[in-house]
Amino acid sequence: MRQLTEEVVSCRKCSLWQSRRNPVVGEGNLNSMIMFIGEAPGYHEDIQGRPFVGAAGKLLTELLHSIGLSREDVYITNVLKCRPPNNRDPRPEEIKACSPYLDRQLLIIKPSIVVTLGRHATSYILSRAGLAPRNISSVRGKIFRLNVLGLSITLLPTYHPAAALYRPPLRTKLEEDFNKLKSLMHERGRRSVSLEDFLKS
Ligand code: URA
Ligand code: SF4
Repeated sequence: MRQLTEEVVSCRKCSLWQSRRNPVVGEGNLNSMIMFIGEAPGYHEDIQGRPFVGAAGKLLTELLHSIGLSREDVYITNVLKCRPPNNRDPRPEEIKACSPYLDRQLLIIKPSIVVTLGRHATSYILSRAGLAPRNISSVRGKIFRLNVLGLSITLLPTYHPAAALYRPPLRTKLEEDFNKLKSLMHERGRRSVSLEDFLKS
């Protein structure tokens, strides 16, 4: 991870390096069984060089606490390591350029549970499993067994916490999904279904 951090700090593989203040590699417990993947650094993350430290991050931290976890118990990162100007959506070429770092982080952490926050992280992980569901929102809050980069992971896609800041009813859904994460931590595997089967049904 130290090597990867050095590479990200000097990375110029897409144009986002030009406007970023600091890249955000990720942080947390390298031995964690749980990895959270967001979209990209925002304003505060870009300034501090740390993931999820703004308003969305405050909500993420609260949601973790609500199920008895602290930020130090999990690993938190994003699909993109540099902030897109004005927090615009990541572009396909940026995801293509940056995602090898995320892939390497997955192989370093080897999480057994991956929680994707929002559609960009969810689409990316599904694509890595060779899947491209037509309706990404249909997978939210469901628990899937996937093979990603040779790792057997349990995937729980949920909303991006920033979405709940704009649409308060989504907060309840996020809380529900975090409660699912809590039970997953205790009864791993039992309630998961194969995503391939889900998409066929
Ligand atoms: N939103 C994200 O997707 N990631 C962050 O790190 C902060 C806000
Ligand atoms: Fe490199 Fe990723 Fe930053 Fe683009 S977003 S410059 S690929 S670290």
